[in-house]
Amino acid sequence: MTVFKVKNMKNILIKAKESKKFIQSKTSILPQLAIIFGSGLSSEDLFDEIDISIPYSEIPNFPVSTVENHKGELIIGKKNGKGIYIFSGRFHYYEGYSAREVTFPVRVLSLMNTKFLILTNAAGGINPDFNAGDIILIKDHINMIPDNPLRGKESIDFGPRFPDMSKAYNPQFRKQIKEIAQRQSYNLKEGVYLAFQGPSLETPAEYTMIYRMGGDLIGMSTVLETIAAVQGGIKVGGFSMVSNECYPPERIKETTHQDVVKTVKKSEPVLMNLLGRWIDEYL
Ligand code: HPA
Repeated sequence: MTVFKVKNMKNILIKAKESKKFIQSKTSILPQLAIIFGSGLSSEDLFDEIDISIPYSEIPNFPVSTVENHKGELIIGKKNGKGIYIFSGRFHYYEGYSAREVTFPVRVLSLMNTKFLILTNAAGGINPDFNAGDIILIKDHINMIPDNPLRGKESIDFGPRFPDMSKAYNPQFRKQIKEIAQRQSYNLKEGVYLAFQGPSLETPAEYTMIYRMGGDLIGMSTVLETIAAVQGGIKVGGFSMVSNECYPPERIKETTHQDVVKTVKKSEPVLMNLLGRWIDEYL
């Protein structure tokens, strides 16, 4: 059992090195920032200059995204002379991947010495102050996905065994982005993102439980990537796009994945504006 695990994790380190080598052979840009976009979001608009788009299927060892509206490509380019990796589409636990597999791209980023990771997702709004279409800055998370990317002692290949999570969502980034939003007269609220494994959406009773547990947002991603990034010393910023209102139960409407994507698309320009300004001013 232990032998299997050692082999497994060593494989991830070796695989991540191969992916790194491939990606770095395709571009001369060495970005400090990576952005992982979730459901429906893409945004090549963020770039002034695209160097290369690489489908995940071409990157050695990359998992394949199986979700509709997740494009599955890595775009490398520049904004204002600053290099950026954009991962258009991510991997989820509910697709059948383990937490280690879900966070594989973050492991590759660690090896490429990326300094900052911005994670975005679509989420249900639990906080009664949140409305569909709102962009919420993530201030903290609760991991209810029954897995952790650091499980198994071999994860120390990537950082400490017990990384501190008291400032998982970088406080300086939060301060900077709130200041930018204020200047733009955008009322940027903050919230705690709670992750369930999905892929079914939650029942009204579950949404009520999430509220009582202290979640402001409910989704199926992000927390595992944050854990792997924090372990690897990468600073994290996170945004949720509220796609449906979940609490109190009177606010719940029937929701499809298409509804989620449509609502998220509408708030995309505001998010891109905030991110673009942050890159210009602070990266
Ligand atoms: N629950 C879980 N994940 C989600 C939701 C939801 O209501 N909406 C968007 N992603």
